[in-house]
Amino acid sequence: MADLHTATERLNLNGFLDLEIDPTLDLVEEINRLKREKNAIILAHYYQDSDIQDIADYIGDSLGLSQKAASTDADIIVFAGVHFMAETAKMLSPGKKVLLPDLKAGCSLADSCPPALFKKFKEKHPDHLVVSYINCTAELKTLTDICCTSTNALAIIESIPKDQPIIFAPDKNLGAYLIKKTGRDMILWNGACMVHEIFSHERIVKLRQRHPNAKFIAHPECEAHILDMADYIGSTTGLLKYTINDSATEFIVATEAGILHQMEKASPHKTFIPAPPENNCACNDCPHMKRNTLEKLYLCMKYELPEIILPEWVIAQGRASIDRMLEISEKAGLIAG
Ligand code: 13P
Ligand code: SF4
Repeated sequence: MADLHTATERLNLNGFLDLEIDPTLDLVEEINRLKREKNAIILAHYYQDSDIQDIADYIGDSLGLSQKAASTDADIIVFAGVHFMAETAKMLSPGKKVLLPDLKAGCSLADSCPPALFKKFKEKHPDHLVVSYINCTAELKTLTDICCTSTNALAIIESIPKDQPIIFAPDKNLGAYLIKKTGRDMILWNGACMVHEIFSHERIVKLRQRHPNAKFIAHPECEAHILDMADYIGSTTGLLKYTINDSATEFIVATEAGILHQMEKASPHKTFIPAPPENNCACNDCPHMKRNTLEKLYLCMKYELPEIILPEWVIAQGRASIDRMLEISEKAGLIAG
C-alpha cells in the first residue's frame, strides 16, 4: 500500500490516482470484476470516450443519470462524467459512496457561476425564483429553488406561475432559448459552456451546402445564431432519439462529439458529422469530460478514490432543488429508461 499512500498524496495535486498499472491487465475484465465484487454501478454521460460508454451500466443525459443515481441499489456509484454530476449523485444518494475517476473533471458552465457572486446577485432580486441548470456546483444548488436539465427545462419553466419572476442560471444560451420558447421574461446569469460556444456559423453553412440532405441538429447550450439554423434542438437524449426516428440518413451534430458513438451504434447505416468549430481544434471534445480514462476508472474502482464528499449542510439545503426537478419531470412523464 506504500504506492497508494504516495499516490493519495499526489491525488491532491492531480485530482486522480497516479499509479502505474500492469500493462498486461485486461482493464475491461478487471473493471467488470470490481463492479461485481463491490456491488458498484458505473453511470456514464454520453460525452465520455466510447470505451467508457461501452463498459458503463447506464449511459444517459444529465436527467437520466440523476434519476438513475436516485434509484440505484448499488453500494458504490462510479460516475463517469464531470464533478457537478457526481455531486448531484451524492446529494441524491448521500448514504452511498460516490466516486469520480478525476476530481478535476470540472465544467466551464459550473465555473462561470461562483456561489458567492450569485448570492449577491440573487439578493438584488428578492422576489425572483431561482431556476438553475443542473450544470452548477452543489453550493449553487443551495441558492436554487428548482434545478433543470436540457431535457426538462421547458417543462420546469412552464410549471411556474406566469406572474412569478425568474432568475435563470448559469447558462445564458439555454436561458435565451427558453425565453424564446416560453415568452417568459427571465433574468439570465451570464454563463456559457466552452464547448457549445465554439461552433462556426460560417463553416456550418458551408458544410450544409456540401450535404444538402443532412439534418442539422443542435443542443440548446449553443448560441442563438447556431440554434436558429437547426432542424431540431434538444438534449443529448433528444438528439439521439431524433437521429433514430428521423428518416434522414445524414446528420450534422452541434454538441460534444462523444454522443456520436451512441448515434452510430443505434443507426449504423446513417452518417454523423460533428459540427465544425471556429478553428481546426478538437474544441467540440469537452476537455473536462475527456479527463476520465479507462485507466483512471480502473484505479478509482480498485482503491475507491477519489471520492465525492459534501458538507452535510450542502446536501440538506441543496437537495430540495433537485427533488423538485425530479417531481416535475415525473409529472411531465420525463422518465429516462
Ligand atoms: P444533457 O446531458 O442534459 O444533454 O446536457 C449536456 C451537457 O452539457 C452535460 O454536461
Ligand atoms: Fe460543462 Fe460544457 Fe463540458 Fe458539459 S460540455 S461538462 S456543459 S463544459
